[in-house]
Amino acid sequence: MHQQIHPGVVVLTGAGISKESGLHTFRDPDGIWARYDVEEVATPEAFRRNPALVQDFYNARRRQLRSPEICPNPAHLALADLERRWPGEVLMVTQNIDDLHERAGTRNLIHMHGELLKARCARSGRVYERLGDIKLEERCPCCNLAGTLRPHVVWFGEMPLEMGRIFAALGRCDLFIAIGTSGQVHPAAGFVEEARRGGRARTVELNVEETAISPLFHERVTGAATRIVPEYVEKLLSRH
Ligand code: APR
Repeated sequence: MHQQIHPGVVVLTGAGISKESGLHTFRDPDGIWARYDVEEVATPEAFRRNPALVQDFYNARRRQLRSPEICPNPAHLALADLERRWPGEVLMVTQNIDDLHERAGTRNLIHMHGELLKARCARSGRVYERLGDIKLEERCPCCNLAGTLRPHVVWFGEMPLEMGRIFAALGRCDLFIAIGTSGQVHPAAGFVEEARRGGRARTVELNVEETAISPLFHERVTGAATRIVPEYVEKLLSRH
């Protein structure tokens, strides 16, 4: 009996999808990197040099993420709906460390840059749920040492997570969608070319403005994520 193969979809999201939920992006004029120096808060060297500054930076972001006014928006919800209703595979790859995709109901999800609501032992690599602040003096559950617990986020100069799984999915997908990312940080900025490599995938960019990688896409949709993502998902589902 002939088995119908449904097209596979890979969705890449960036900070722009969470902006309308109240979380700053990184490179917009009011972005995080306009107020903080990357070299002071988001590198392994910074953590060695001044762990208190780094922990304060992520503790503040974790507190904000857990505040009641921060919730998934219609763009997150539409993508969870796509995963539920699409006949084929949908893999969500996010650069975001917030938990808004999960809270919207997305399950097949890779946090390639880590997760704010988790801590990691810098010695053993073990990962723990973390809802509250990480304190400098607290002892790590696995090695019982103070100062080894760090945010489970990927800093500049470190290898993103689950790259093998991501590249395998890019190699077999039929549709690659990038949402709310400026395309300035690799390896994520190179995913569109990876998806196009086999000449198989159609590639679509959804963003409020043109980005550094816009010319690499077959199609672009411009507008705020909370408007264009639900529209685009409905259009996709109506075709299948
Ligand atoms: N709807 C759609 N797109 C938006 C919206 C919105 N409401 N608001 C902003 N954008 C777009 C911006 O135009 C920009 O292209 O989202 C993008 C955000 O870009 P960045 O701030 O560079 O965020 P991102 O691409 O996710 O950054 C990648 O860099 O700092 C590191 O590790 C961090 O994961 C992050 C990585």
